[in-house]
Amino acid sequence: MKLKVEDLQKRMDYIRENVKEHNSKERAEKLNKMYDHFEERMMLAPASGTDYFHNAWPGGYIDHVMNITEAGKRMFNLYLDYGFKLSYGIDEVVFCTMHHDLGKLGSLEEDYYRPNPSEWHRINQGKMYEVNPNLHNMTVTDRAVYTLSQFGVTYSEEEYLGLRLADGMYEEGNKYYLMGFGESKKLKSNLPQLVHQADMIATRFETERYMFSEDANIPYKDILGITDTEQEKVEVEIPDDEDERNARMDIIGQNGPTGTHYKEVEKPKVDKDYKNQLFEDLFGDKKWF
Ligand SMILES: [Fe+2]
Repeated sequence: MKLKVEDLQKRMDYIRENVKEHNSKERAEKLNKMYDHFEERMMLAPASGTDYFHNAWPGGYIDHVMNITEAGKRMFNLYLDYGFKLSYGIDEVVFCTMHHDLGKLGSLEEDYYRPNPSEWHRINQGKMYEVNPNLHNMTVTDRAVYTLSQFGVTYSEEEYLGLRLADGMYEEGNKYYLMGFGESKKLKSNLPQLVHQADMIATRFETERYMFSEDANIPYKDILGITDTEQEKVEVEIPDDEDERNARMDIIGQNGPTGTHYKEVEKPKVDKDYKNQLFEDLFGDKKWF
């Protein structure tokens, strides 16, 4: 895919507008300085290196930032419709979506992706770009955090987690945050989940744009039996009245399948004697303490 210069410019304008609209004056100033530094590079950077992944073409990065930000704004409304408890606003969502992949712009001096010199890999394996081997080895997210720090951009812990965990379980290092054992280790805010879901939507949208284009190597359209007839949207009405909305949520199971989740439930009694006896039986002969 190839975007015209004016389409690239539109996406750049979109980023600048969102910086202005969703940040304090002070943070917007710092972000704009960062974008001044990277603007030329941003117009040409891809969002990934491989054509069947997503947006592996010049301008793919800013297109992806726009797509995830739009998805993030829609997810925000969806979360509100469901009655999720949000400890953040739309500004925090936009900050995370806009910067979750910032590391893909590279270091202050050098690109992250560079065109793959091997024609064989480009044609046969769709590997359009390779990661610049001159860069220090760093995850895209760590690089994003580092880059923001170079321009003095600060953010809340919640925003940090939002952009840090954008890749969800696709990033090995996120296990610590997403699979923590114990209630205190579970994510307290749902912002990281929102950002990850928005990223999934944007990435899938971009992948499908490739799948159903002439560039695809596999005839997805035929395999999936997709026709050009448009599917009709389903009308989903969200009631204005809160009581009505809650009643709807009970039906679809937000409060548990029977709507009893928030009602007083008698806690099961813990049989201390049984537990102590079991412990004794299992470990009684081991003198650990
Ligand atoms: Fe992304």
